[in-house]
Amino acid sequence: MLVTLQPVLRRFWYAVMPMAMLDDGPKPFTLLGEKIVLWKDAEGKPAALRDRCCHRTAQLSKGFVENGNIVCGYHGWNYDASGACVKIPQAPGNAIPSGASVPSYHCEEKYGYVWVALDDPLQPLFDIAEDHDPRYRRIEQFCETWKTAPLRLMENSFDTAHFSFVHKGTFGQFDQPKPEKFAITETDYGFEAETIITINNPPQSHRITGTTEPTTKRHFRNQWHLPFSRRLGMEYPNGLQHIIFTCATPIDDAHIQLVQWMYRNDTEADCPAQLLNDWDRKVIAEDKEILESTDPDAPVDVSRRIEQNMPTDMPGLIMRRRLLELLRAHGESEVLPNT
Ligand code: FES
Ligand SMILES: [Fe+2]
Repeated sequence: MLVTLQPVLRRFWYAVMPMAMLDDGPKPFTLLGEKIVLWKDAEGKPAALRDRCCHRTAQLSKGFVENGNIVCGYHGWNYDASGACVKIPQAPGNAIPSGASVPSYHCEEKYGYVWVALDDPLQPLFDIAEDHDPRYRRIEQFCETWKTAPLRLMENSFDTAHFSFVHKGTFGQFDQPKPEKFAITETDYGFEAETIITINNPPQSHRITGTTEPTTKRHFRNQWHLPFSRRLGMEYPNGLQHIIFTCATPIDDAHIQLVQWMYRNDTEADCPAQLLNDWDRKVIAEDKEILESTDPDAPVDVSRRIEQNMPTDMPGLIMRRRLLELLRAHGESEVLPNT
């Protein structure tokens, strides 16, 4: 599926970067192939416009912010968050020409990140109960570009079959590739997948898991949120919760911005954020290497019929079906790469 050619995907919220990245001026981003500029307005709220001045097409992200407006770095035209040109420095007494504006996008701050929807969102941004639960702390993790398709990352997220192989250097048990439990329940937003896996617990992960046993169990209660967000809810036998949210924000058909943050029901003294991020960095580096070796095209390739008999591959097949249903409901058909 070529995500940049499926207009309905423009109607979802995507996390693009931490709010703090806008502290020192506007920043460019490419979302679903569209070049946008982000900045903080006078109230500190994020704003997003097409990254192209309507005067002589300069990238607005090369400019600067003044009085909450973005100023083009070429001739200084000012735009507000709605995209209207509000000042032309060379013609202060003249009316702004009609049509002097650039397209604007829906833009919000949530969970410490800037979120953008290119067209009217089909639903509000999902609520994360742990974010307003004082028993949990939120830890910012990663924001980086991977050379893979967004649905590759999503199907990988619910594919327990890869743990024993891709993650044998960290937590995966090479000789135990079969999960103890694997159950999927479809929901309005996507699905929930429950699974129980015994994992290796090397000394480096003792404070992550809260136990010094050589192995422990992870009880996953995971969620897939259409189209490209996941919640990995891991619980250890001691009640410790390690909950990861990841957005495979689609830059284009072959690249994502991996945006990830975490919730834990322990304290910095129990397990420092740096230690958690160092460990998870090792784990996602294993995923990155294998995902970047896959073709960046169809997520669940139409030719992969063999998977229909393998329970651990069901999530990818359900994703494909749900996405096709979404496209159909909006009058679209799937655009596939030329192969
Ligand atoms: S190109 Fe932007 S002000 Fe001229
Ligand atoms: Fe993985």
